[in-house]
Amino acid sequence: MMKLQNDIVLRAAKGEITERSPIWLMRQAGRILPEYREVRSKLSGFIELVETPEFAAEVTIQPVDLLDVDAAIIFSDILVIPQAMGCAYQMIESKGPFFPQTVRNEAELKGIHVADPHTDLKFVTDAIRLTKKNLNGRVPLIGFAGAPWTIFAYMTEGSGSKTFSVARKILYTDPAFSHKLLDMIADSTIAYLKAQIEAGADMVQLFDSWAGILGPDQYREFSLRYIRKICKAITEVPVTVFAKGAFYAIPEMADLPCRTIGLDWHTDIRQARAQVGSTKTLQGNADPCLLYADEETISAGVKSMLSAFSGTPHIANLGHGLYPDTDPNKVRHFIKQVKAFKHNQ
Ligand code: CP3
Repeated sequence: MMKLQNDIVLRAAKGEITERSPIWLMRQAGRILPEYREVRSKLSGFIELVETPEFAAEVTIQPVDLLDVDAAIIFSDILVIPQAMGCAYQMIESKGPFFPQTVRNEAELKGIHVADPHTDLKFVTDAIRLTKKNLNGRVPLIGFAGAPWTIFAYMTEGSGSKTFSVARKILYTDPAFSHKLLDMIADSTIAYLKAQIEAGADMVQLFDSWAGILGPDQYREFSLRYIRKICKAITEVPVTVFAKGAFYAIPEMADLPCRTIGLDWHTDIRQARAQVGSTKTLQGNADPCLLYADEETISAGVKSMLSAFSGTPHIANLGHGLYPDTDPNKVRHFIKQVKAFKHNQ
């Protein structure tokens, strides 16, 4: 394996208190960069970009060149898993994901299978191999997948939603079906993450973007249980779990067999650290809207975030993904400030 020139993210993800907080940003690939939109405009759409390794590798590396982040994250989407299981998605311009065929009951499981990443998701592992080759050891590459609950929410609801009330209804009306589908998603995700690691992903993150719409009991039963199964199975590289809105579950997440817990911006850093203890790494958690502020306000936000994490293993990030209309120069300023911060100042 090629030696990494910059491995600070990996060292922090393994629990080291590093010389400064390493930084990467959720949704750094695509969205905000004009250079991304240029590549995207040559193609039929988002899905073609995801499924063409040469283009996916190119936009994965863009933020390393253009923003100076300490890690790349493979350009793909969490929705490739439902597709690989037999539930295809469309990406509708300026609206988001749409599933023509939802999976809402036992009968509709008929066309659904546990994904085989070596056939159904070869475009991702090919993109990872190509990205690793082209990164040439500059920074680590992060692989990722959606957490089973978030994927279940899209497969049952059929699109994005403020409430995901169809998905939540099914948890109450058909728990047996819910567990069956969640388990199939978890098994697909384990195979998928292992394939990403085999192809060269240096660490992996689970995105539970819709954690916050479940109450604590349901979160335990329908989400954490499957996140735990995945974390237990992935022993090859450090795993990060980011569960947006699940501040109530942080004490339980402290026991997950993962290395890093991602915090959203609602979460009080010192309180989370007290709940998690000192061994796990924490990642986060600036409000993505901080990046709309002037540079002085951004600098102050960075200082207050990094002071709160000071002296513990930390990876700097936002508390959710970058918003599409963020000015790349503000992002560069944020990153520079993180890199310049000295923990005893
Ligand atoms: O982080 C990165 O830079 C890597 C790429 C990445 C994308 N999606 C590319 C993308 C990652 C990690 C994701 C994860 C993802 N996808 C999540 C979890 C993270 C989160 O934000 O909570 C979710 C919920 C999705 C589902 C999804 N994909 C939605 C709701 C949408 C539409 C709205 C939007 O722009 O987020 C997408 C499309 C998508 N995925 C885009 C990109 C760059 C925009 C599509 C385009 O370029 O037209």
